[in-house]
Amino acid sequence: MATSKKLATLVLLFASTLEYDLEICDLPSEESNKRCFVKQTLASLAHSPNQLAVDKLTNTLYFSFDAGNGEYIPGALHIDTKRLTVLKGVKDAFAIASDEFNGEVYFGGSHGIYRYNTMMKTLKRLDVDSLDIWWLVVKKRLYFIRFPSLKTYSYANRTIKALNELRHFTVHQFVFDVHDNIFFINGSGLFGIKKAETKAVLLRDYPRFLSMAIDNTSQVYVCSEEHIYVLNQMVLKVKKIVDVQGVLGLTFDKDNHLIYSNSQEIVRLMPVDIK
Ligand SMILES: *[C@@H]1O[C@H](CO)[C@@H](O)[C@H](O)[C@H]1NC(C)=O
Ligand SMILES: *[C@@H]1O[C@H](CO)[C@@H](O)[C@H](O)[C@H]1NC(C)=O
Ligand SMILES: *[C@@H]1O[C@H](CO)[C@@H](O)[C@H](O)[C@H]1NC(C)=O
Repeated sequence: MATSKKLATLVLLFASTLEYDLEICDLPSEESNKRCFVKQTLASLAHSPNQLAVDKLTNTLYFSFDAGNGEYIPGALHIDTKRLTVLKGVKDAFAIASDEFNGEVYFGGSHGIYRYNTMMKTLKRLDVDSLDIWWLVVKKRLYFIRFPSLKTYSYANRTIKALNELRHFTVHQFVFDVHDNIFFINGSGLFGIKKAETKAVLLRDYPRFLSMAIDNTSQVYVCSEEHIYVLNQMVLKVKKIVDVQGVLGLTFDKDNHLIYSNSQEIVRLMPVDIK
């Protein structure tokens, strides 16, 4: 009797939590395959509004938060268990990127670049001097945007080279698509550059784009203060997917669910069937 009462309370609790979960849908579009999502809060905490990354092997989200001395300390959230840990040894993880093939996560900031092996739990600081890192990308090799110049470089075999395609541009964030075309955002808008070319094509200069990420098929997503968009790489047009306020960072979990952060929390959008 006692057990079933407890169960009933639990069910009620569960039902009422669900009621408060905000369901949001694709913005009205011509498409018939409209999608709806439930917002699931993964963590409620103040954190760095910059880069998030998921290690797909362990489904662990890496983010960073202000330790109070102006440096960002990396945190790891195991998405399935919600277990939160703090990674020691990394000074200033402003930028974060995951190397999905090698199970490694890179952290960058005012003390250079660190590489963390998620299985062995080993941490190594890369042998490069006086680098302040703003943004990291891993695709076959490691790429980074330096601060304060906002110029883009690659790193391999202890050698740093300017990334030719972006050599002339000031870049806030960039990603590669599946064909190694580059998409980037800066204070002037969203731009695309074809692989091995150096001409940037302006795709959209409004609204102000704040962050970008790719999903598991290298589809490009961008966000503004009010919306999340997906880029149609065939026609080079962005389409709004959902209305969410204050989005600052984007990434995807191992099942390709979109995760975004605002200044207070990290949220996952879970698809639901439309009733
Ligand atoms: C790094 O060095 C190794 C061995 O010399 C070479 O095989 C590899 O291609 C180099 N990688 C890059 C990205 O230059
Ligand atoms: C952004 O990049 C474009 C294309 O390279 C460039 O023309 C523009 O000046 C840059 N904007 C800023 C604010 O750096
Ligand atoms: C991307 O994720 C979706 C959803 O989990 C999955 O069906 C698809 O196979 C994945 N694609 C790749 C290339 O991993």
